[in-house]
Amino acid sequence: MHFSRTTLALLASSSPLTDAWGKVGHATVGAIGDHYLTAQARMFVSSLLGTNVTMSSVASWADDYRYTTPGKFSAPFHYIDAEDSPPSTCSVDLNRDCGGTSGCIVSAIANYTQRVNDRRYSVTDRKQALEFLIHFIGDITQPLHTEAKAVGGNQIPVLWQGADTNLHAAWDTQMVEKDAGGYGAAVITSFSNRLIAAIDSGAYASQKASWVSCTDVRTASACALSWARDANGINCAYVLQVDETDRELDGAYYSGAKPYIEMQIAKAGYRLGTYVNNLAAAA
Ligand SMILES: *[C@@H]1O[C@H](CO)[C@@H](O)[C@H](O)[C@H]1NC(C)=O
Ligand SMILES: *[C@@H]1O[C@H](CO)[C@@H](O)[C@H](O)[C@H]1NC(C)=O
Repeated sequence: MHFSRTTLALLASSSPLTDAWGKVGHATVGAIGDHYLTAQARMFVSSLLGTNVTMSSVASWADDYRYTTPGKFSAPFHYIDAEDSPPSTCSVDLNRDCGGTSGCIVSAIANYTQRVNDRRYSVTDRKQALEFLIHFIGDITQPLHTEAKAVGGNQIPVLWQGADTNLHAAWDTQMVEKDAGGYGAAVITSFSNRLIAAIDSGAYASQKASWVSCTDVRTASACALSWARDANGINCAYVLQVDETDRELDGAYYSGAKPYIEMQIAKAGYRLGTYVNNLAAAA
């Protein structure tokens, strides 16, 4: 079926088809980020979000906001539509892919990095800038948020445990919830603790430094572009390697996806903590 851009825009604005990492994914990224905050960054976060308000608790705010009338402008900030050719070639080119005047996740991260520490803006605006960053630093590790093909996989129908869904939604939500063991506060705590252990002394101990090698808040655009390229490469390595149209994903595809899901959520959380530490130090 052919969807015009207008139809897609209507679909996207009327239902949360394209939420990046669903609530479990975002809250887990936020909880991992919270864990790695310095004392200075904890005060910085509290000063903007409110006393004892965690990054985890506000991590999905931007998904709610994009479906409101005042927040509609921010919908294109959740992704970058890389016009590459997976699975044979993956690439992100800012001039080609950043959505012209509407912008994309890379320009949004640069914009909100600048605004969060700019005292000319109100505390309300700076709070919103931090909430956007907490969300987008999660989104940018979801491979299908750095991909134009089939509207980031939204137009690839698949099955999850026998029910109709699409590839994008499976990566955002169904596969994440299966890996986490469900949803809700206790699940988010146990999933984030499992990933924190892997970061500190497990599978990710030796690679975590590379995840934060570009986190200088003065080069936000270049860093966000490098993060987008990193996630986009996974579309060729795994996500879109085989055409999964109309197939059941809860089986071999999920087993192959699980290590990527865990790595990308761990990476986003560790990067978020590091980036907010750097923002606080620069404030
Ligand atoms: C914030 O958390 C600290 C440490 O858990 C606690 O001592 C303090 O009472 C809390 N403040 C508020 C306003 O809830
Ligand atoms: C920067 O953020 C502001 C406030 O949300 C928004 O109005 C503006 O469009 C953004 N600019 C860019 C280039 O993303």
